[in-house]
Amino acid sequence: MNLTLQVWRQKGADSEGRFVTYRATDISEHMSFLEMLDVVNEEIIKAGKDPIAFDSDCREGICGSCGLVIDGLAHGPDRGATTCQVHMRRFTNGDTITVEPFRAKAFPVIKDLVVDRSAMDRIIAAGGYVSINAGGAPDGNSIPVPKGVADLAMDNAQCIGCGACVAACKNAAAHLFTSAKISHLGLLPQGAPERGRRAIRMVEQMDAEGFGSCSNEGECEAVCPKEISIASIARMNRDYMKAVAGT
Ligand code: SF4
Ligand code: FES
Repeated sequence: MNLTLQVWRQKGADSEGRFVTYRATDISEHMSFLEMLDVVNEEIIKAGKDPIAFDSDCREGICGSCGLVIDGLAHGPDRGATTCQVHMRRFTNGDTITVEPFRAKAFPVIKDLVVDRSAMDRIIAAGGYVSINAGGAPDGNSIPVPKGVADLAMDNAQCIGCGACVAACKNAAAHLFTSAKISHLGLLPQGAPERGRRAIRMVEQMDAEGFGSCSNEGECEAVCPKEISIASIARMNRDYMKAVAGT
């Protein structure tokens, strides 16, 4: 395949960015999107120029490091998939593809397609943990947890912290991410004692980081590679309101 790429290039958070056009030639349809960018970078390096900066680590949909907006879609055209799981067979020979970073006030650009997502780490640090002594594995196994509750907690535990939900939201809200983290702990007996305090601390940190408000657009759920449900946002709001009201 031969493709034209319009790639966002930006030296740093305070620099102006712009789209730069690159040719991607002899691309195999079996390559992943990131492997295609590796090939383009090899040509850029051979020409003595600065390669395109982008994030990745596991390249198998687990770590949450990768994250590009491809043709206007966070993580690209595949539902339930991260950027590293998108393959070039999803595109057609001759296509022009735009590639941009995740854009949000709380995600400043570090360089090109790499953004600083440490605001999400600070939300976790504010309350995304269990600080009581929950015992060892035998203690965990001796606490009965209804199957439906365990499944729901594990569904939410799938969140990899990629930030696509923020990038897709017109308000740059982090509600899906924060609610997934609150749900996966708060639904289980070991996380229940701190459920209210956790909700208050994490929601307040989310607001302090400059993320926007949720207006129930559902774009976050549509792009989430782990298909976290927006029902988690409603659960977070209930936890928060009950905790603030002291009930
Ligand atoms: S909720 Fe989904 S889109 Fe948002 S950070 Fe978690 S895995 Fe990524
Ligand atoms: S590189 Fe780890 S999820 Fe894509």
